[in-house]
Amino acid sequence: MNKDQLVNAAKDMLDRAFVPYSKFPVGAALLTKDGKVYQGCNIENAAYPVTCCAERVAIFKAVSEGERDFEALAVIANTDRPVPPCGACRQVMSEFFSPDMSVYITSKDMEVKSTTVEELLPFSFTPEDLEKGRQS
Ligand code: THU
Repeated sequence: MNKDQLVNAAKDMLDRAFVPYSKFPVGAALLTKDGKVYQGCNIENAAYPVTCCAERVAIFKAVSEGERDFEALAVIANTDRPVPPCGACRQVMSEFFSPDMSVYITSKDMEVKSTTVEELLPFSFTPEDLEKGRQS
């Protein structure tokens, strides 16, 4: 699957977004190293903070199915510029993706910006930091 196909798989999820509060649909598609695609959309809740972003829905779907090796993530929203993922999603990306993994962020006009996990969240808190800072 190439970049355009992955972006289109993310776009297909805009219609599935559950966004009665923000009216801001987001779609995501996560490609595994063995070629499977897990799609996600944002899912909101009347208790607003319970909302889950499209990126995390796609990542959690994949991880909960046992996937651990990822190739690329595409994200899209009806934004003027390629949609920047939120901080919480960047942290989750840094947990499961390699720093150089491609993230394709996309605007309403299908402008695709190719970035990486490291570019989105430099100097991130890692499992190694946690391990080394534990009380003995
Ligand atoms: N949202 C995402 O799904 N991904 C992002 O990268 C940015 C924000 C969602 C959360 C909420 O449902 C809506 O967009 C407005 O914040």
